Amino acid sequence: MKTCCYVKKDFITEVEEKSLLTEVEPHMKRLRYEKSHWDDAIHLYREREQRKWRDENLEVISRIRSESFGANTEHLTYVHILDLHKDGVIKPHIDSIRYCGDVITGVSLLSDAIMRLRHKDRKEELVVDLLMPRRSLYRLGGPGRYEFTHEVLGESESCWEGEKVPRNRRISIICRDLPKVTNRAKEEEIQLKPIPEEN
Ligand code: OGA
Ligand code: MN
Repeated sequence: MKTCCYVKKDFITEVEEKSLLTEVEPHMKRLRYEKSHWDDAIHLYREREQRKWRDENLEVISRIRSESFGANTEHLTYVHILDLHKDGVIKPHIDSIRYCGDVITGVSLLSDAIMRLRHKDRKEELVVDLLMPRRSLYRLGGPGRYEFTHEVLGESESCWEGEKVPRNRRISIICRDLPKVTNRAKEEEIQLKPIPEEN
C-alpha cells in the first residue's frame, strides 16, 4: 500500500499555493456551494475543471503528474478543482472507472485534512487514515484506487495522533490518468464546467 498510496508533505511552496489560488479563485467565486453531488458523495462543494493554465501553474501541474503517474502513461488533459466548504465532507466512494484510470493524485490548498481509506468489503476493520497537510500531495493507486473507498472527513471527525485537525475550506487540485479504453466515457461527457478558452 505504501508505494501506491502516500502523502508527500510540502510538495508545493507557499508561493506556488498562492499562485494556483490566484488563478482558480475568480472562477470559483462565481459558483455557489452545492449541497450534494449527483451520486451523493460530496457535500457543500463547488467544482470545475480546467485545461489551460498559466505557465507558472502548469509547471506545478506537470510536477504533480510526473510524481504520480508512471512514465508514458496518458492522463486526462483537464484538471479537476474541488472547493470543499469548511463544513463540507466527501463521503466514502470509489472514483468511477469510466472517468479515471489507475491513479488519482492531488494537492491540498488552504487546509489540512484527513483522507480515510476503507476496504470496500471490510469497511470497519481495514481502515487507513492519511493526514494531508496543506500543500501536500497525495497519490492513490493500486489497491488504494480499486479496493478501498476514499473519503475526506469533516472537522468533528478529523483527528491525527490524538490531536484535532482543524478543517477549513479546502481546495484540491486533482489529476487523474486516462480511463481504460474499454471503460472510457467520451471526453465531452466528462467535462463539467470548462472555462471558455481564452486567447
Ligand atoms: C473526488 C475526490 C478528493 C480530494 O473528487 O472524487 O475524492 O482531494 N476528491 O478532494
Ligand atoms: Mn474520489
